[in-house]
Amino acid sequence: TFTPRVFSGIQPSGNLHLGNYLGALKRFVDWQAKDVESIYCMVDMHAITVWQDPADLKKSTRELCAGFIAAGLDPEQSILINQSQVPEHAQLAWIFNCVARMGWMQRMTQWKDKAGKNAQNASLGLFAYPALMAADILVYHATHVPVGEDQKQHLELTRDIAMKFNHDYGVDFFPVTEPVIEGAATRVMSLRDGSKKMSKSDASDASRINLTDDADTIAKKIRKAKTDPDALPSEVEGLEGRPEARNLVNIYAAMAEQSVEQVLADVGGKAFSEFKPMLADLSVAKMSPITTEMARLMQHQDEIDKILARGSERAREITAPILRKTYDIVGM
Ligand code: ADP
Ligand code: NA
Repeated sequence: TFTPRVFSGIQPSGNLHLGNYLGALKRFVDWQAKDVESIYCMVDMHAITVWQDPADLKKSTRELCAGFIAAGLDPEQSILINQSQVPEHAQLAWIFNCVARMGWMQRMTQWKDKAGKNAQNASLGLFAYPALMAADILVYHATHVPVGEDQKQHLELTRDIAMKFNHDYGVDFFPVTEPVIEGAATRVMSLRDGSKKMSKSDASDASRINLTDDADTIAKKIRKAKTDPDALPSEVEGLEGRPEARNLVNIYAAMAEQSVEQVLADVGGKAFSEFKPMLADLSVAKMSPITTEMARLMQHQDEIDKILARGSERAREITAPILRKTYDIVGM
């Protein structure tokens, strides 16, 4: 049996958004309160699987770290790291590249979506991404991984890699990690299209609320969010076939820390013209303190760099022995 340990990561590819906040960051903060050792990672090596301007990548990494702290992660309580500063992630990833099968990787829907029709021109790293993600998690022997719904398949692959490694080498060395996908906002959708998830890479800025948006911008994006002409239902069944309505209610519920049922009991019967300002007010109330604190922290980049340097030292106390033992098992 393994000691409970939490790991999760976010890509520093700019445009940190409300989906990242509700699906990931906010839940990291909930985990921190549970007093389990946790490691939260800016996964810059994942970011470069698609082109990143070097100066932007550096800025986004610091901005993401500022976002982690502004959202409530305490660098003393949690270990905050930048992936490329802890070399054991990449070292274990190579071993996992040799454990994972081509067929497993080819089934990944994120690979298919991101590579699109032009797979021959995608980077090899984009294809191997889920093996690096497995290494990110397993190099800590992490047992719990809070993520959004979009990462479910990658976590299943992580479990497959752990099981195949353990089986091939006849050991019980890597834990079979639990995905922790829970809450009202495990899949926040685009504000412009209820069939697409809110994403950093969406070309339309109006599709997402960025953690760097000011109060007016947040309110405006919510006012303009796509909806349907009907009033809000008072029961969950009434959201059936209404993805945009469901999305706004889910966002409200997650921010108010209520169930969707509770929210609908209160707002059922209201028109969107009435509900949207409520959602805008709540969003601004929850997001503004984070935005303001992020901006303040970004004025102290040397502090951020120090926090990340200290985080990698602490991380390596965990990862170095696990990697050494892995090499030993493999015969290296
Ligand atoms: P993105 O998909 O926007 O590039 P990442 O891949 O860096 O973001 O994901 C970081 C974390 O945020 C993951 O746990 C992921 O599941 C979560 N996440 C990303 N988008 C959403 C979303 N629209 N709704 C809920 N969670 C999300
Ligand atoms: Na993602």
